[in-house]
Amino acid sequence: MSIRYERITRVSIVVRSLSERTLDEGTKEGTKCADFARASTQRRENHPNPMDTLWLVLVLALVTGRAQGSFMEQPLARISVHRALIELEDTASISASPDLLGAKGETAEYVTVKFRRAANAENTDWIGVFSPANFNASTCTEPDGVPSKDQFPKLCSAPVKYKYANFSSPNYVRSGEGSLSFRLINMRADYSFGLFKGDVSNPVLLAVSNTVSFTSPRAPSFMRLANGFEWNEITVTWTSDYGQDEAMPLVKWGLLDDKERTLTAAMTVTFSRDDMCGAPATTVGWRSPGYIHTGHLKELWPNKKYFYQVAHKLENGSYVWGRSSVFKSPPFPGQDSLQRVVIFGDMGKAERDGSNEYSMYQPGCLNTTDTLASDIDNYDIIILNGDMAYANGYASQWDQFLEQVEPLSSRVPFMVTSGNHERDWPFSGSFYGSSDSGGECGVPAQTLFNMPAVNRAKYWYQTDWGLFRFCIANTEEDWREGTEQWAFLEECFSSVNRQKQPWLIFIAHRVLGYSSGDFYAAEGSFSEPMGRDLQKLWQKYRVDLAFYGHVHNYERTCPIYENVCLSQEKHHYSGQFNATIHIVAGGGGAGLALFAPFNTSWSFVKDYDFGFTKLTSFNRSSLLLEYKRSSDGLVYDKFWITRHYKDVLGCDRRTTFCPLITLAT
Ligand SMILES: [Fe+2]
Repeated sequence: MSIRYERITRVSIVVRSLSERTLDEGTKEGTKCADFARASTQRRENHPNPMDTLWLVLVLALVTGRAQGSFMEQPLARISVHRALIELEDTASISASPDLLGAKGETAEYVTVKFRRAANAENTDWIGVFSPANFNASTCTEPDGVPSKDQFPKLCSAPVKYKYANFSSPNYVRSGEGSLSFRLINMRADYSFGLFKGDVSNPVLLAVSNTVSFTSPRAPSFMRLANGFEWNEITVTWTSDYGQDEAMPLVKWGLLDDKERTLTAAMTVTFSRDDMCGAPATTVGWRSPGYIHTGHLKELWPNKKYFYQVAHKLENGSYVWGRSSVFKSPPFPGQDSLQRVVIFGDMGKAERDGSNEYSMYQPGCLNTTDTLASDIDNYDIIILNGDMAYANGYASQWDQFLEQVEPLSSRVPFMVTSGNHERDWPFSGSFYGSSDSGGECGVPAQTLFNMPAVNRAKYWYQTDWGLFRFCIANTEEDWREGTEQWAFLEECFSSVNRQKQPWLIFIAHRVLGYSSGDFYAAEGSFSEPMGRDLQKLWQKYRVDLAFYGHVHNYERTCPIYENVCLSQEKHHYSGQFNATIHIVAGGGGAGLALFAPFNTSWSFVKDYDFGFTKLTSFNRSSLLLEYKRSSDGLVYDKFWITRHYKDVLGCDRRTTFCPLITLAT
């Protein structure tokens, strides 16, 4: 969603549930976010900045209990790149060191940037990080790729990120000197830094730094695993700067405990500016995505640890190797084993060096990443339910996001769905006509993540994991009865053998079920206004759980059908299936969303915080759902389902979807 945003604070606002459980007892706010907020506050006290007005508004809004400001815009969108002027000053300078990174194979390193503006230094001066390093007008192109006809000095690409000059230099205005620390990742091109005046709204470039490069800028990076079409197949996807005709991409892999290794050739795809649907993706947000490679590792043994390493074989016979890693292969459908699944949505990206600080675009995402990474051995598969990077047309942000999640995506299958911030664009075929994708219209997401969709441009798919069947919708395409997607979902629900795979899970980005998010409440629907068309399928096929994102908080319902709770039990569901339990898990990191200021009968638990859900199937009759906060990884809600096959075969006669029977004997 992109309607409302409330600033993260040390005070966690918890909406008490209808259950006896009090969610906020003994909790602590995320350390990193708290430290960051504290540090930012300190900087502002020392160095007045025009943005302080914005900060004050946010604080006042928080004090009054409701912040209605819309701060969900992509931070880079605040920079008026198209209006930027180049007026280099002799008395201004900027330099970065070291100028060579990654000498020991590092894929991310910090550089120190020193700058000086001998006269007229201002609090609104800022430093932009650009990649490629050559960002002057000579590289400008029109959306169709031809050289720009404009002759006046200008910029043609947005920076990767930025900081104000006084960010860590309290005396910048007085002394005219300062320094900053930036974390750079290897994203296939060199970097340079620009010193600007005029704030981000009227940028004027005063000085350009030296170039900073990585030792192996073309090397493979950002590994991400996914389930393949078959249960015994895993795909390995990564990014490099080697085109298909320059080097052969491949994966070396094998059982971790064996010495035998297999080499599997990978395919190569990419996309161009012409594939984008509009600005900024076609203009200042465009940056080459490099090449995306995918290798299919097939005929895996179930539940075994595998080694893998990606590489490129050059024409001279030498290899450029990526980092090696390990994953555990999927269990076979119906395999009775411990299986653990993480599901959440709306993650976003953030800068570990504090860049873009005043936007606080997705304040919880680093906590989510780090909390999951620290416990990755206890998760088998992660499903990120849409609104992943919030790149919104700024292609560099996808690289930043891929680097952020690599500790997760390189270790377990990292399955994704399509959200409005990946897909929506007017008149591009998306079901919703918003411009939330910033002109991407789904192309980067669908290319960067190799999901087992029959048609990746549509991005709905089914995937199995042992005792689980996941039917994954794409809410940004029409799902209603009579559509192609409806037919897919019914086939997905109906084709699973529940005796072998008892847990049937529906996943979709937008809330098609139930949410107390205030903007859904304002609609009077507590879901997408055209939502719940699918409820007769959920009921007919006994879908256990339905997960959503889009609303940036956590909420779970009773087992519900047509607005009526079919059970008042809150902690342990056993016996015959009543109805689907709906779970909003949209607190992956993007700014939190308010709940409506009243309770409904169907909402059992709410939490206004960042977090994720974990499903654990201990065997074919016991399932545990846990909701964990990102800040501490502790469990703040949970419930059990104990169900046998005969319970799935049964039918709650209060609904209208029980199968007909004959009176004949
Ligand atoms: Fe969304």
